[in-house]
Amino acid sequence: MRLMRDEVTVRVPATSANLGPGFDAFGLAHAIHDVVTVRATAGATDVQVTGEGVGEVPTGEDHLVVRALRAGLDYAGAPQAGFSLHCHNAIPHGRGLGSSASAVVAGLLVARGLINEPEALDNDSLLNLATEFEGHPDNAAPALFGGVTVAWMEGPQARAAQIPLHPDVQPTVLIPTDRLPTSRARAVLPATVAHADAAFNAGRAGLLVLALSTRPDLLLPATEDRLHQAQRADAMMATSALVDRLRQAGAPAVISGAGPTVLVLAPLTAAQQAVVGQAWQVLSPSIDFDGGQVTVPEPSRG
Ligand code: HSE
Repeated sequence: MRLMRDEVTVRVPATSANLGPGFDAFGLAHAIHDVVTVRATAGATDVQVTGEGVGEVPTGEDHLVVRALRAGLDYAGAPQAGFSLHCHNAIPHGRGLGSSASAVVAGLLVARGLINEPEALDNDSLLNLATEFEGHPDNAAPALFGGVTVAWMEGPQARAAQIPLHPDVQPTVLIPTDRLPTSRARAVLPATVAHADAAFNAGRAGLLVLALSTRPDLLLPATEDRLHQAQRADAMMATSALVDRLRQAGAPAVISGAGPTVLVLAPLTAAQQAVVGQAWQVLSPSIDFDGGQVTVPEPSRG
């Protein structure tokens, strides 16, 4: 195995995980992208960042894209090098929009783009490696494949499949300025849940597949959850209150991933917009059906 080129650009979407009842399983890709260009060099690794995360993320070997890139090369048995990265980030950090999963998928796709046998980093391998970084596959799957996905573990192997999507399912995201680390949002979850709540969520998750694919009229009941959203309310009170107000106004609102962004799986009506308030950045990104994309420079013409 060898590096067959010295420059690759990748584009990876933001994601919303969970979608209500599908904790650690469902996810959706938004047309909000981080774009990373990587050059292999003989020098030390350096990372330039523009957009989200400037001045906050590491600019050397600790950068998440670099760590994932190196893990991908190791997995494929390819040699390491120095790397010069330019990251143009549009995905907000710490808001529940999958920025870390997108960084990991970006690094792994760069590794695939650099090597002479890209099949050594096929989709199954990439999903598995990304899941090892993340601890769960629900953001990595839509970041890699696009669309709306359900992901699951078969023993140590992560798997994912896409859910066919009804055209009326059009996301709205409401992004607060506050951040919440995923580690904190996970730390507040109980170790066990009541059987009745597990049964409730199993039914709603099945209903959600139906609602997303053919029955968008069922999105409101299909996005009910009893496993994580109420349990996290104290860690994101404004988010929880907004989800409640929107749902009372008939909108299928959920917490995006581990929060604190709110995701609504439909455009907001004027009455629903009226309950939002000023503190939220409201976006209506289309769904990204492509997933992470790799581009390589054209060979120069002699
Ligand atoms: N399923 C995850 C959670 C998504 O809610 O904690 C965030 O990584």
